[in-house]
Amino acid sequence: MAGWALFPLRIFIGVTFLFAGLQKLANPNFFDANSPSSIQAQLIASERISPLHLLIGHLLQFAVPLGILISLGEIAVGIGILIGLWTRIAAIGGVGLSLMLFLTVSFHASPYYTGSDIVFFFAFIPFVIAGSGGVLSLDANIRRRASLEAGRGDPTPFVLAFSQIQDLCGNFDKNRCTARKNEPCGPEKCPVLHGGEPSLIERGGRPDEVDRRSVVIGSSAAVAAGVAGIAIAGVTAGLGRAIGAAPTAKSSTTAIGTGSTTTPTSAASGATTTTQGAKPAGRPLGKASQVPVNGAATFTSANGDPGVVLQPSSGNFVAYDAVCPHAGCTVGYSKAADLLVCPCHGSEFKVSNGDVLTGPSPTGLTPYKITEGPDGILYIQM
Ligand code: FES
Repeated sequence: MAGWALFPLRIFIGVTFLFAGLQKLANPNFFDANSPSSIQAQLIASERISPLHLLIGHLLQFAVPLGILISLGEIAVGIGILIGLWTRIAAIGGVGLSLMLFLTVSFHASPYYTGSDIVFFFAFIPFVIAGSGGVLSLDANIRRRASLEAGRGDPTPFVLAFSQIQDLCGNFDKNRCTARKNEPCGPEKCPVLHGGEPSLIERGGRPDEVDRRSVVIGSSAAVAAGVAGIAIAGVTAGLGRAIGAAPTAKSSTTAIGTGSTTTPTSAASGATTTTQGAKPAGRPLGKASQVPVNGAATFTSANGDPGVVLQPSSGNFVAYDAVCPHAGCTVGYSKAADLLVCPCHGSEFKVSNGDVLTGPSPTGLTPYKITEGPDGILYIQM
């Protein structure tokens, strides 16, 4: 029953991990450093908040191989869980991947249950303990074949009520089995017990023979599944580039600044007005010309948070604290979508006012008040 009880969960996490791996490979933007949803953006976004930030700093230079490795790992885990091949090993892989993602992109998810990685971490644990439970799995079929080849009979377990065994083999009374016409009691004539059969060792077999055969057959099946998985991954990546998502419009967000920093305000809007004459209040941020029309530039505020300033139309500037309210990743500007996008869990925010369009972020971005002075400098008001 354990195998059947876990079967829906097994299908769900198997399909999800397989899909997640294929989706990453099919999406050219995932490997494009200019895309706010790329692996590079995810690493940079999570570096500031992750307890593994020291490690992430070193991994940045290997972002593309790391992205490929994560994708292939997800595909391997998905296939293993789905077809029930080396299910426990696949589940351990799923636990490891989920834990890594939790410690990088979801560690500060608030509330904590809005981060999916911690849920997947716990969803894999029953399969580490129970494997596939012998239900619709290659592991069970391989075990059966190995057992038959070793002359051990079909190992498939089934449930028999104890009262049935008593009816067939027992009802011991005065040293006789009344269930077997008062013959002497003993397991050798009972149809549901193994009594009287020579043991495996008595027959000259090795006690670990079924395990050994299972590993050999399972290894062959794993190699075949691996080759099929790599072929599917290669075709998916090729198709994704041929007919899938268009590469990101290059936004090449650069840093703006004069070296000064600023702090977020609770202003309702970050929109700016051009001031004629007097220099506006606030700290100078940098030249307005450093922010492209329909583009963005980044800066660092006084509290260390990353900020983003945009110019949605000529002379109209908006600025936000770029920390995503969901788990603290750094949002980036997607020129293709004309939105601010969080690379960690995909929250999207309006450029015009920072409102959240797509969760899981519970709120919008914190706006800054920004004004362009007559000297062509942008000023952030405190
Ligand atoms: S950190 Fe989760 S959506 Fe931004």
